[in-house]
Amino acid sequence: MFAVCVLLLSVAAAGHSAPLGCEDLVRPLDQLHPARLDGTWALVAGAFVDTGMMNSFARRNSSSITFDSVGGGRSNISYTITKSQDGHCRRRTFNISLEGSTMTFDPQDDVNVTVTFLFTSCPDCVLMRYETDTETQTRTLFRLFLFSKRRQLQQAELQEFKGQVKCLNMLEPVVLDPSTDLCPLQETDAESG
Ligand SMILES: *[C@@H]1O[C@H](CO)[C@@H](O)[C@H](O)[C@H]1NC(C)=O
Ligand SMILES: *[C@@H]1O[C@H](CO)[C@@H](O)[C@H](O)[C@H]1NC(C)=O
Ligand SMILES: *[C@@H]1O[C@H](CO)[C@@H](O)[C@H](O)[C@H]1NC(C)=O
Ligand SMILES: *[C@@H]1O[C@H](CO)[C@@H](O)[C@H](O)[C@H]1NC(C)=O
Repeated sequence: MFAVCVLLLSVAAAGHSAPLGCEDLVRPLDQLHPARLDGTWALVAGAFVDTGMMNSFARRNSSSITFDSVGGGRSNISYTITKSQDGHCRRRTFNISLEGSTMTFDPQDDVNVTVTFLFTSCPDCVLMRYETDTETQTRTLFRLFLFSKRRQLQQAELQEFKGQVKCLNMLEPVVLDPSTDLCPLQETDAESG
């Protein structure tokens, strides 16, 4: 029943959709319930302003993020990031909080990054803009990451992302190889650190 409603709604929305302009394509989400984030999301693509950051990202084989808002509400959400590169898995868990569509890290984690969830029409994706909080670096070091519950997206979904990247005058996005395994969430003895 719920699925049917969602389907009807999206058909209705698609029925009169003119192509979105940049303003709508890159707007932050108005509302984001923490439970909507729960679970593991695979990194599908990333986009950068800085060539060095882009090249270092391109060496990554796979990446994922996992949110767990159980027992935490908006102010105590567990956020784990994994990266697979050079045959090693790296993972780190943070406590984050969510205000509107902005995610902030615990100050004691010394991360200095603000993350904003942006619009995406992909139904099982999250689009996140990461900004480094230093006056001089905010503009050059911002980057976009498109995550999904799927490993591989439809062409049209990737096209939308490319359009968003273009709106923000960023470099062409890097799409990760969907066939590379994600790191397990828990450390295994062979792959720590
Ligand atoms: C990981 O990425 C590197 C660089 O793109 C590539 O050479 C290597 O084959 C990849 N490894 C796997 C397991 O996909
Ligand atoms: C935060 O959530 C974790 C479970 O995810 C829980 O163990 C912990 O007590 C919570 N802390 C606070 C301050 O609510
Ligand atoms: C998250 O916060 C809880 C209590 O609020 C604490 O027990 C836990 O160690 C924190 N985890 C991290 C990764 O900082
Ligand atoms: C975060 O910002 C503080 C204050 O500006 C600075 O002392 C610290 O080195 C920064 N940490 C990182 C990881 O950039």
